[in-house]
Amino acid sequence: MQPKVTLSNSRPFEEATDALVLFVPEKGAFEAFSSVNTQAKNALSKLIQEERFKAKVGECLTYHSSGIAAARRIILAGVGKKEECTPEAIRRAASSAANVARNASCRRISYTLPSGVPFKTDQAVEAVVSGALLGTYRFLKFKTRDEDQEQEKKIENIVVLTAANAGSKNAIDRARMFADAACFARDLVNEPANALNPAVLEEKERQAAREAGLEIKVIQADELKKMGAGAILGVGIGSITPPRLIILNYRPKKKTSRKIALVGKGITFDSGGLSLKPAKSMETMKCDMAGAAAVLSTMRMLPYLKPNAQVMGILRAAENMPSGTAIRPGDVLTAMNGKTIEVLNTDAEGRLVLADGLSWAEKNGATEIIDLATLTGACIIGLGPYIAGIMGNDAGLLQKVTSAGNAVGETFWELPIPEDYRQMLKSDIADIKNVATTGEAGAIQGAMFLSNFVDKAKWVHLDIAGPAWSDKGFHYVSKNATGFGVRTLLQHLSRV
Ligand code: BES
Ligand code: MN
Ligand code: ZN
Repeated sequence: MQPKVTLSNSRPFEEATDALVLFVPEKGAFEAFSSVNTQAKNALSKLIQEERFKAKVGECLTYHSSGIAAARRIILAGVGKKEECTPEAIRRAASSAANVARNASCRRISYTLPSGVPFKTDQAVEAVVSGALLGTYRFLKFKTRDEDQEQEKKIENIVVLTAANAGSKNAIDRARMFADAACFARDLVNEPANALNPAVLEEKERQAAREAGLEIKVIQADELKKMGAGAILGVGIGSITPPRLIILNYRPKKKTSRKIALVGKGITFDSGGLSLKPAKSMETMKCDMAGAAAVLSTMRMLPYLKPNAQVMGILRAAENMPSGTAIRPGDVLTAMNGKTIEVLNTDAEGRLVLADGLSWAEKNGATEIIDLATLTGACIIGLGPYIAGIMGNDAGLLQKVTSAGNAVGETFWELPIPEDYRQMLKSDIADIKNVATTGEAGAIQGAMFLSNFVDKAKWVHLDIAGPAWSDKGFHYVSKNATGFGVRTLLQHLSRV
């Protein structure tokens, strides 16, 4: 159960709660802090000095108010430099405070807002709620023992102290929607591959489609064969669970000619196939359907977000396994658009399933395609764990998606797709090969391969191999599956 989120008109000092959060910049103070501090006879500013609290982003300090304020405890949450304070800093600070409260078994946490910052109150509300909801996510489904009392520590009520008007209510709804969607994606990705194979993913899609009232179409392996979708079939053929192509469809009430396709890589487990990965690299490979999870989670919310475009969610579900039926290095596959592909490395499977996804999108009238894929280790080497690669054929769309990401705290960095590199993927015997002879520009090679399957549509490719998974967690980015991409897609679609 997600916590309830409400607004309250109480003055900070009078708010009866388990934890009252006051944001604190490195220098100066926000109004809410000053008012409580004055009432508490400067107890808070004294504590800050005594504890040498620096108010760095995410740094927290707890004050046990013992009757001085109506709140049982006050959490001071650092936001860094006041002039540089952004919604992202508030998201991070709100998340830290929520975790301090959660660890202290608080049920109700009440946030005051920063004042005199260069963004609107509604944005602050949205940031607080997003940070609290995203930051307190845990995946406990498979825990049978609760040694760390994780199940019991549950914030039930998040309160924001601000006037309840249309703007603030809308900010809460939006933050809830975005966080719910991201956490839904996290759940799907955290699910181990023995519990979530392509068939189960299909079941999850059907359920989501039923609940959200979306059209769904599932194309099973035998039909894929008839359609000539050889690339995705080749990838899935080594697994006992056959691959499938799942399409969700959202149609707005108002007629529009705009047709956006979201294409997600849904490899429920990537062993590498016969080009087997080393054991260590395989440990996290249940995350290889993070692109598909992001697409599904986004699609589920569209009936509430109501974007002004038709949106197709195209998921490519397959499991990449070695077996007697698996494809071999050197095999040639024929993709749905008729191009032949020499598969020299069965571990470069993502681009194969996406190839048919992109062709399918274009064939079905998509004018704009965004694909999301945990595609290359090279992208992690290049951009590290928190930044996704963005590549494509349309400057306008690249810019729009990047800016949507910035608004929600997801970072994308553009890499080029230089024509001069096209010859890297030239095959001796087929139209193209799936890997180049050298690993140079690995993330670009991935995008270059995909560009062979896009024709007229505006297209953006998001390589989320780094940020889809986090070994340590980072502010409100949960450890393990992060749900990366979902909030960017929702933000982008809310602007179309
Ligand atoms: N799923 C992997 C990419 C990946 C690596 C995602 C690490 C998340 C974390 C992808 O299918 C893959 O194996 N790519 C190969 C491509 C290579 C064979 C050209 C890679 O990056 O090594
Ligand atoms: Mn692979
Ligand atoms: Zn993969």
